[in-house]
Amino acid sequence: MLDRSPYLQRRNALQAKMQRGIAIVPTAPEVARNADTHYDYRHDSHFYYLTGFTEPESVVVVIAGESPQSILFCREKNTEREIWDGFRYGPEGAREQFGFDATYPIAQLDEKLIELMGNQPVLFYPLGTTPSWDARLLKIREAVKDKARTGIFAPNEIRDVRELLNEMRLFKQINELEIMRRAATISCGAHHRAMRFTRPNQFEYEVEAELLHEFCRHGARQAAYTSIVAGGANACTLHYVGNHARLNDGDLLLIDAGCEVEGYASDITRTFPVNGKFSPAQRDVYEVVLAAQAAAIAAATPGNLWNAPHEAALRVLAQGFVDLKLCQGSVDSVLESESYKQFYMHRTGHWLGMDVHDVGEYKIGEQWRPLQAGMTLTVEPGCYIRPADNVPRELWNIGIRIEDDVLITPQGNEVLTQSAPKTVDEIEEVMRQEKST
Ligand code: GLY
Ligand code: MN
Ligand code: MN
Repeated sequence: MLDRSPYLQRRNALQAKMQRGIAIVPTAPEVARNADTHYDYRHDSHFYYLTGFTEPESVVVVIAGESPQSILFCREKNTEREIWDGFRYGPEGAREQFGFDATYPIAQLDEKLIELMGNQPVLFYPLGTTPSWDARLLKIREAVKDKARTGIFAPNEIRDVRELLNEMRLFKQINELEIMRRAATISCGAHHRAMRFTRPNQFEYEVEAELLHEFCRHGARQAAYTSIVAGGANACTLHYVGNHARLNDGDLLLIDAGCEVEGYASDITRTFPVNGKFSPAQRDVYEVVLAAQAAAIAAATPGNLWNAPHEAALRVLAQGFVDLKLCQGSVDSVLESESYKQFYMHRTGHWLGMDVHDVGEYKIGEQWRPLQAGMTLTVEPGCYIRPADNVPRELWNIGIRIEDDVLITPQGNEVLTQSAPKTVDEIEEVMRQEKST
């Protein structure tokens, strides 16, 4: 049975932050792919954070103040639809299982909201994310205003509920970390498997299949995002998801892939040689990125600002780019002129959680925010060398990224994705073992 306590506790915490008013959070819509076929359904993360409920066509209402309540609107039970599409809790079942104060059929949403919004001073909802919800809720608010003569008032303040929820979601609870560790471990296994199965002349999609196989056989039915399986020059396209090219002997393979477990993402990148052995040039670039990542992880500690890992990675990369003759001048001048951006054009990480690029502010006012225990982020420096006149030819088309998932702890940090092979020796050892069997 579902452990409802985290969700109850979050709804209570939201009520405390709201102080007064009504919050309305719909889940995500189902999206048609083509005739009679839908994309895999994925609930809205904010909605799920507050409910644990994964059925589409649902809305949670949280009322703060003197008479706090949490209410779920969901689909009714329907024998015909359940024969075709599967089980639905229905309002009664959902109330019992998920611990709401009240539940109603989703068809009653508008009429009930006109009641529930009455005399609430503030309306909180995910303002501006879905035009149809904006219009619908404003129309309901107008209907409440029409009751003014009966002494009922409508919310005259509208606030974005995400301001409150994003900050809550940024700090992971014990039960969330337990799930994130499981997702991370499964994804590490998938990268390990990809290293063992990769051979020259395979197609990128064959390696993608090994990743998905490993996710799925451990209960992670979904990838957290479309896997990037990029051989050779394809690795220099940051969001390459074609995954249809042949893998050449002598090229590197960059894999950015992570599974989703119980609504939580993992996000790992490893880069390794298709034939199991780094060339000297590949190894030189790899060691620079690896050292940059180590420096960034070392800087991901409580009290350091969000940008500290990025700055630490940049300094190591800039030195490496000078040593490799990719950039000219001193490290300081490379950083100052930003000439490193020819080879490293993205930032070194992002928050990680229910969404792979998770919610949470990166700055407080004008300042990067300090890292604090309970935050989870990725650390993912890279180097992408496209052919160019100013680039030594032996480095052309090398694309490398190394990405791990990191939890900030009171003492420092914990790398959740430790078990995915990462050093040159570890990677070559895994690939050698497989070839010898
Ligand atoms: N896989 C998406 C990212 O690394 O940000
Ligand atoms: Mn990634
Ligand atoms: Mn990432």
